[in-house]
Amino acid sequence: MPKVLISDKLSPAAVQIFKDRGIEADVKTGLPPEELKAIIGRYDGLAIRSNTKVTAEILAAATNLKVVGRAGIGVDNVDVPAATARGVVVMNTPYGNSITTAEHAIAMLFAVARDIPQANASTHAGKWEKSKFMGVELTAKTLGVIGCGNIGSIVAERGIGLKMKVVAYDPFLSQERAKALGVEKVELDDLLSRADFITLHTPLTDATRNIIDAGALAKTRKGVRIVNCARGGLVVEEDLKAALDSGHVAGAALDVFKEEPARSNILFGHEKVVCTPHLGASTTEAQENVALQVAEQMSDYLLTGA
Ligand code: MLT
Repeated sequence: MPKVLISDKLSPAAVQIFKDRGIEADVKTGLPPEELKAIIGRYDGLAIRSNTKVTAEILAAATNLKVVGRAGIGVDNVDVPAATARGVVVMNTPYGNSITTAEHAIAMLFAVARDIPQANASTHAGKWEKSKFMGVELTAKTLGVIGCGNIGSIVAERGIGLKMKVVAYDPFLSQERAKALGVEKVELDDLLSRADFITLHTPLTDATRNIIDAGALAKTRKGVRIVNCARGGLVVEEDLKAALDSGHVAGAALDVFKEEPARSNILFGHEKVVCTPHLGASTTEAQENVALQVAEQMSDYLLTGA
């Protein structure tokens, strides 16, 4: 009977699926790397979210491992080349949390347009600062979507529903798909110079790391607002802080940070920054979806090799 280790918090439905498919599943979350290294050799499969770091060192100890299943999209916490070199398949669930993450980006868009978290804190503190929080409308504004794949395209559709003009930068977006979505496909510099709001939806790769740096920010409109619910490494946090401090960028809504868990960050406490702790995929629906999908996919692979 194949054995799977679930090392991050997954919906219990995943354990049931493994059991129903005849696979033994142990749940051990929050293991320090040394402990994971000590036990990983017993398992054929490893099911993770974003907390477990599947490094080359862990993989070297994983002598029976055949598959790593990421319940979610980003596999940047897995050393994929090291896994591939050892014949370990790395699979993700690219669709299960797309709607949820897109909805979080839209929530952040509203939050940063109307200073909702700041106004909430102020009102709870009994301040009634009605004139302090002057927002902007989304209607008729230009939304620049960087990365128009599974999540970005849902954000684009929602933006159009909010009567925004949507421009998208994505080298993989065809003109036909852009037309079907109702977005204008543009180059990055064009997006930067036209967008009132910029939202990021690309994976973190060598091509996208630091895509929003001082140079890119200098090309944006004064008063631009930036939403990042993708990966922290896409934005150079020091450069964003400088642009917020100078007043060039009017606000930023960030769900992701260069270092996570982010217990401290240079942007924390900034009055123009809205933050959430990487909640993009955190809904009951999305977590159920990704847990079920990863368990089914891993079971198929371990039982049939497909
Ligand atoms: C993902 O890559 O799927 C998201 O960042 C959500 C998560 O942390 O699982």
